[in-house]
Amino acid sequence: MAGVKELAYVGYEVSDLADWEHFGCTLLGMQLGEKLANGFTLRTDERAHRWIITEGPADDLVVSGYEVESDEALDTLVAALTEAGVEVAEGDPDLVAARKVERLVSTVDPMGNRIELVVGPQDAETPFASEALLGGFVTGPGGAGHQVLLAKGVDRETYMAFYEGLLGFRISDIIIEELAPGIVADLIFLHCNPRHHSVAFGEMPHPKKTHHFMLEVTDIRDVGMAWDRCLKAGQPFEMTLGMHPNDNMFSFYVTTPSGFAVEYGWGGLLIDDDTWEVKTLDRLNNWGHHPMAAEIAWLNAAIAHETNEGTN
Ligand SMILES: [Fe+2]
Repeated sequence: MAGVKELAYVGYEVSDLADWEHFGCTLLGMQLGEKLANGFTLRTDERAHRWIITEGPADDLVVSGYEVESDEALDTLVAALTEAGVEVAEGDPDLVAARKVERLVSTVDPMGNRIELVVGPQDAETPFASEALLGGFVTGPGGAGHQVLLAKGVDRETYMAFYEGLLGFRISDIIIEELAPGIVADLIFLHCNPRHHSVAFGEMPHPKKTHHFMLEVTDIRDVGMAWDRCLKAGQPFEMTLGMHPNDNMFSFYVTTPSGFAVEYGWGGLLIDDDTWEVKTLDRLNNWGHHPMAAEIAWLNAAIAHETNEGTN
């Protein structure tokens, strides 16, 4: 298979390294991989790193690393990209060493996101250990997690020609929901392994390249405990606990120190390509995932109601 097989790692450029280390390790339960000259890496499993955090003004996603099965598969992919007129560059030895892979080829997707196609990502020298989690993170054949990226005005046909036509992603499903009169969420979810989606794209009013990254845990109690840690630390939430109708993820969304979100979830659905049927769904959530501002307004209204009842 010449396509990509998993989302291997992501890189974020962040303005506050200390906040991010606290957010990643203490609140989310990731493990510090290693300190870099200009940042640090984070682990969620046996791999050397899954997130690469470097200091800079972007406060956004700066690289997505996708693993390819073999050297030969990467050669085939490079030939397809080149034939389609997409520029690719073989990674230099310093970058290959820094990413802890055997080989790396970089390119850019139609939205301008940097993509690294890698072979042979290394494991760390020590087993994964989290000080915060009861269980672990769900990675393995499903890769690091999933991310939702902004289409940024690029039409679907164009980015699907790249992600489906060249990188080999398959469509999982589409969700179209009218959130308010005239405001329509239209997201397409793509998979490259059994995880319901490794990447999704949508057109939303959002200042970043990425809307969120999803970390999945093996123990549902870790969703609740991470929620508590974020709440007690005063980390702002983007959405309350809820469940999506397509991947069945039980999750909440917390805002990162850089302004985009992390979805922290459990119980994500796996896809069997032999039996999977692509559907278009009409809602983003089965229940929950309320914007935090709305939740606080409801709570205040409930408290005011109770106070009035008490005084009447
Ligand atoms: Fe998600």
